[in-house]
Amino acid sequence: MSTETSESATSPPTQPPSAPSRRTFIATTSVAGGVIAAGGLTAGSSLLGADEAAAADTAPSSRVSLTVNGWRHTVTVDNRTSLLDLLREHFGLTGSKKGCNAGACGACTVMVDGHRVNSCLTLAVRLEGAEVTTVEGLAEGDQLHPLQQAFIDQDAFQCGYCTPGQIVSGVGCIQEGHTGSAEEIREWMSGNICRCGCYVKIVRAVEQATGRK
Ligand code: FES
Ligand code: FES
Repeated sequence: MSTETSESATSPPTQPPSAPSRRTFIATTSVAGGVIAAGGLTAGSSLLGADEAAAADTAPSSRVSLTVNGWRHTVTVDNRTSLLDLLREHFGLTGSKKGCNAGACGACTVMVDGHRVNSCLTLAVRLEGAEVTTVEGLAEGDQLHPLQQAFIDQDAFQCGYCTPGQIVSGVGCIQEGHTGSAEEIREWMSGNICRCGCYVKIVRAVEQATGRK
C-alpha cells in the first residue's frame, strides 16, 4: 500500500487563528510597558521592527517523507513537532495516546523501523524515509493482530488509555524475543505504565500471543 500525499503540518493550534501569538502578545505588552515607562512612545509604535516581528513569528519548518502504516506521506512540518502530534493532530491517528508527553508512561509507543519508541520524544523531522507503525496498523483488515485478540481474551485493560501503547510495546517485546518468562516480559514492558494496574493480565496477553498460554 503506497499512496503519495502532500500535506502541510505545523504544531497543533493552541489558540484561535485570530488570537495573538505568544510572541505577538509579548511584543504588544512590551510596547504597552514601554509607553508607560518611557512616556514618549505613541500608540502603534513597536519595540520590534516589522521584519523582526515577522521573523519571530515564523517557526523553522522542514519537509519530510515517511510511511505510516503503509501509507506514504510527504509533509512540511514545524521542526518542533513530535511524531505523536504529527500522528494525532495532522494524520488523525489518535490511537497513540498522550499521557505524560515526557517519555515516562509509554502511552504513545509506536514502532519506527521495527523499534519501539516514545513518539512524544521523537521529532518528526528526524524521520525522513522512516517506516512507522501505530496501533491502527496492526490488524489485517478485520483480522486483529494476535496480541490485540489476546488483550481481549485476557481482559487486559480497564480504562484502556494505556492499551494502544501496551499493545505496540508488546508486539515489539515479542519481536525482540524478550518473552522467555513472565519476569522477562515484565522487565521489557516496564516502560509502559498502567494506572489501572492491569499488569498481570497484560503479561498473560503477551504470553498468549507468543503461544505460551
Ligand atoms: S506520552 Fe510519551 S511516554 Fe508518556
Ligand atoms: S487500562 Fe487504564 S491505564 Fe491501563
